[in-house]
Formats: sequence, structure tokens, C-alpha cells
Amino acid sequence: MIANEKMNIVILGHVDHGKSTLVGRLLCDTNSLPDGKLEQIKNMCLKKSKVFEYAYLLDALLNEQEQGITIDLSRCFFKTEKRKYILLDSPGHVEFLKNMITGASRAEAAVLVIDASEGIKENSKRHGLIASMLGIPQLVICVNKMDLVNYSEVIFQKIKNDFSNYLNELNISPIHVIPVSASGGDNLTMHSSNMKWYKGKNLLDALDEFNKEKSLIDKELRLPLQDIYKFTVNGDNRRLFAGKIESGTLKINDEILFLPSYKKTKVKSIEIFNKTDIAETHAGESIAFTVTEEIYAKRGEIVCKTSEHQTLVGSRIQVTLFWMGKEPFLKNKKYILKLGTTKVDVKLVKINHIIDIENLNQIDNEFQKINRHDIADCILETVKDFSFDLNQDLVVTSRFVIVDDYDIVGGGVIKNRAEVPKDISVNNPPLVLWLTGLSGAGKSTIAEAVHNYLNENKIRSYILDGDDIRKGLSADLGFTKTDRAENIRRSAHVAKLLSNSGQVVICSFISPFHEDRMKAREIIGDNFFEIFIEASIETCKKRDPKGLYQKAINGEIKNFTGISSPFERPVKPDLVINTEKNDLKKCVEILINFFGENYFK
Ligand code: ADX
Repeated sequence: MIANEKMNIVILGHVDHGKSTLVGRLLCDTNSLPDGKLEQIKNMCLKKSKVFEYAYLLDALLNEQEQGITIDLSRCFFKTEKRKYILLDSPGHVEFLKNMITGASRAEAAVLVIDASEGIKENSKRHGLIASMLGIPQLVICVNKMDLVNYSEVIFQKIKNDFSNYLNELNISPIHVIPVSASGGDNLTMHSSNMKWYKGKNLLDALDEFNKEKSLIDKELRLPLQDIYKFTVNGDNRRLFAGKIESGTLKINDEILFLPSYKKTKVKSIEIFNKTDIAETHAGESIAFTVTEEIYAKRGEIVCKTSEHQTLVGSRIQVTLFWMGKEPFLKNKKYILKLGTTKVDVKLVKINHIIDIENLNQIDNEFQKINRHDIADCILETVKDFSFDLNQDLVVTSRFVIVDDYDIVGGGVIKNRAEVPKDISVNNPPLVLWLTGLSGAGKSTIAEAVHNYLNENKIRSYILDGDDIRKGLSADLGFTKTDRAENIRRSAHVAKLLSNSGQVVICSFISPFHEDRMKAREIIGDNFFEIFIEASIETCKKRDPKGLYQKAINGEIKNFTGISSPFERPVKPDLVINTEKNDLKKCVEILINFFGENYFK
């Protein structure tokens, strides 16, 4: 009797190493083909005077499956005494990777095919690497086309040893390495008389040795929120939350937590396909549920249970990434990271190293670029917190893709959380944004808004404002040229100290003299950015938020900038923001964008 157990396996290997033939032959020898199919294909070959090949079988089957199923997602089935196998065929590793990561297919084990006559190719290694990266721990290697090398044990042993050593470094050990000839059926379902020297298992028996992965149902609840529907019941506004359970179980009365918002509530009711009285649901099901205390949650949040280990929440992650974009993965460029239903802007912050596929060595990446087909260890940073798991804890919620302009250009797994550095080293302190401009130009208002924005995004910042400094540190100074120079000198030193402590410093000083600003740049260093907040003297006079222009005009204040003391326009500012031509929102946006472009360098 055939057990109910099912297992998803994927066949990997370099093109022309015989994947299709192996699958065709396996389907044939396990009697998994529809009745008459084999004869039909053999007849077709005869008619066309072609020599029959098992690979045609697969092609024919796949053609029949066409109904909307893309070719890179094709599936075949066969069964043994032990279980049913679902074969996920992937024409290439890019498609395979996309499918694996986006959840279109989930392989629990892999068969990797290597051509004995050609030996190990870079792609063979790349596939091994990807299998380990995606957490497919079980692998059988088939050294195929043994007939082409006279069934030579020596050649087989060499490939076996070389490849086993490679996989060992990846922490995956092939369960079996089998010499086969897919076209002749040697060692697939029966022991081959052509290779009496081989005493191990045939492929079918080896597959049956794979262990079933601990079911996702037994793991912690992970329910990425897909949609939130609002409706009204007896005048009450209620919300219905919908999504697919990726792992774990959910029942009525479970206490749940939405991450990253950390909102807590209890499950009140669950429904599946309009059936409302569902008591318990589990991994694999798409559900909708209501909660006892109404809360506001967003698409992309992951629902966890308070009683279980929950996802991590953060914005800086260390990942292993596979790049498939035509353009390289660039630092400082904005991409979108998708994980489950989360979509968040992301930037490449640091490339730790590129992995040399040949020997798994780390390649120093002096050009700081990740090219097509590279596998890299790097640090990514999202603009806001999101929830995720680490690859070693829960694979389903650790896989992500990178999207650029609607295309999937990369994918990978999260290996670790990379904390936002608390104390950035003195060699690389955060930016000092030095806002210079007339009184009333808008420096303090912009400083405040940017400070709030950084705060919301968990980037520590501090505002250093002329009015504050002059109440304390510079209380002994007035507004003569010399006093202003001294005021700016002191303030620049304070800004430097603050930035060395790991904070972004937003300075707001009139600083009317070019020479003083140059001095500040010299004191602070490369992370100093001169930002001219521009508004005409007429406008500032009109705005006159503190009533000082009027007083200066009346002669009540001496040396007032713009009236009785000059303002020297910045010669080569790093940024100009005109507060007459742009409204406050736009001005803040300009500065935030400028910040973003320079912050991650
Ligand atoms: S700076 O010239 O030395 O850079 P700072 O930015 O510290 O000036 O201080 C400017 C603030 O001091 C103004 O916003 C205003 O409130 C106040 N103030 C008082 N007297 C003057 C003056 N004569 N000129 C400019 N600002 C003055």
C-alpha cells in the first residue's frame, strides 16, 4: 500500500547533463506515465525517423500541462512504496531560485545531476551553493552518462570525492552519490549490471531515505497580513484581517501580536471561504479573522502568537544574496525588498564579500559591486522596521526578493540581524548638516522637521541651534565679526563631538561669513555638509518671526545680519534649499533625499 506522504523534490544540474532524461526514465520505470504515453512517443519518433529519447517523454508531458502553468513551474509525479514524489523541474537556476524564494515551489530535497563525461561545472557548484543557501539540506548526487565513460569506477570516484569535499564546506552532505546512466536506466530503479563495482543504493531507494521535513504546522505561527477589510456591524466599525498561514496554527482565543507594530489582541472568529465557524486553522491555509480589541494594523505585518517565539523586528540585516539583475546591485540606490507580504524600500549598505563559486573562498570586493550571478554576503538597510526570521530559525519568513522597477533582480535569505551601529567609529562619523542662511530663512523649522523624520526612522540626531548656544556656551559673545567667528568655532567643535558620538548633527546657525563656515568645515571634516537655506532679505523681513528685523531697522539691535551686517552667500554649498520657491514639505523632502544619498556612503 502506498502511504499518503508526499515530498517535493527538485532536480538540479547544468544544462545537457541529463536532467530531462533522468526524469523521463524515472517516470517510465515507476509506471507513472499515463497509459499508452510511452508507445505514443516511441511511434512519433519512428514516424519522424528520430531515435527515441526519454527526454522527449518529459517534453510531451509538459506540453500537455500547458493550461496556464508556466514551464518553469512544471511538476511531475511518481510514487514508491514509501511515498508520493512531486518533481519540481526547473530549466535554470535563476527560475528555480525565483520560484523557491517567492514560494511558488518549496523543495524539501534535491537531486543534482552531473555529467560523468564533462565533470563538475561551475553551475553544478552554484546549484549546490543555492541549495544550501535556501535551506535544502538533503541531496542525492547522480553522476550521469556513465555509459559514455565506459562505466569507469575511477572517473566516478574522482567526481564523487571532489564534489563531496565541496559540499562539505557548505555543511550539506550528499546522502548518496550514485553512478547512473539515465538513458539506460542504470541504477535508477534497479541495481545496474554494468557497474558491479557499485555497492550503494539505486536512486529510488536513495530518495526513500530522505527524511520528511518537520512539518510547517509544528512550527511557530507566521501569518503575513495580506489585506484588511473594514466593515460595519450594528454601527460598529470592525476589521477583518486576511492572509495565508505560512507556518504554525491559529485558533479562536489565541493571543496574537502584530509585528513590527507590536499591537496585541485576541482572535475572535476565523473564516475560510465564507465558512465562519472555524475553530482552528494551520499552515498552508488562506484565512480571514476578526479580533476582540479593534486594532489598526497594516498589510505586510506578520501575525505571531504571544505564547511562541516571534519574528525579529529590525531594519538592518546581514544576508546571503544571489543577484540576477542585468545591472549590478548598487550601493545607495533605492530598491524594494519583498518578504511575505512586506514591501519596503531598501539599500545596499555594505558588501562583506562575494563568494567564489569555484572554491567558496571569499573574494575581496574592492569595487563594491555585485554583478549578475554573483552570490554575496552583504548588509542591507530598509527605510523602516519590518519583521523577519533568520534562515536557521524559520526558512519561510527569511527568504526575500529584491525588486527594481517591477523586475525581480535578486533574492536571498536573512542570516543575521545587523544592528544599527551605536557608536560609529570616529573615522566614519555620521553627517553634520550645517544650515546657513538669514534669520527667518527657515533653518530651525527645517532642522526640526528633519530631526523628527530621522527619529521616526531610528536614526539618532541632535539639533544644534544658534539661539540655544548663545544662551549658554556663547553667552559671553555678541554679534561683531570676531564674536561670530568665535561662536561658529565653538559650535563646530561641539558638532564634531556630537557626531563622533554616533549622531547625525543638524546645525542651524546664520553663520554669515564664508571664512567662518570654511573653518567649521575644517574642524568637522569630510562629513560636513554646507546647506544654504535661501530666502531673500525682503521675504525674511516680511516673515520676521521674532520681530528682530523691525527692531534692527529701528536701530534697537546693532550688527543685525541683512540690515547692518552682511551675509556672504555660500560660494560652493553642498546643497541649496530655497524656501520661497518650495513649501516646507518640499524643503524637508529635499534635505531628507540629500541625507539619504550621503548617509549610507
Ligand atoms: S551667528 O551669526 O553667530 O551664526 P547665530 O546663528 O549664532 O548667529 O545666532 C543668531 C540668532 O541670534 C538669531 O536667530 C537671532 O535670534 C539672534 N540675534 C540677536 N542679535 C542678532 C544680530 N545682531 N544678528 C543676528 N542675529 C541676532
